[in-house]
Amino acid sequence: MADTTTVLGEYFIIRALENGVQVIGMTRGSETKLHHTEKLDRGEVMIAQFTEHTSAMKIRGRAILYTKHGTIPTVED
Ligand code: TRP
Repeated sequence: MADTTTVLGEYFIIRALENGVQVIGMTRGSETKLHHTEKLDRGEVMIAQFTEHTSAMKIRGRAILYTKHGTIPTVED
């Protein structure tokens, strides 16, 4: 069960600019594995957090990430 700190943690947004964008969650801890792949189609938006299970994410495909570090396109036009 996620603790309050995790549940209230920061979200960031992935906005897909093409079909088949993949949001790949990677495990926290000593072994880094891919634990989930979410596929987004063009125009779909996913709101995600880092959690006790997820310490890193890999985004594959054309998308824009809205984060506290800024707005980051995965591909430069
Ligand atoms: N069950 C996952 C978790 O709690 C859900 C998740 C959160 C996730 N953030 C993610 C899955 C980012 C893929 C990518 O960690």
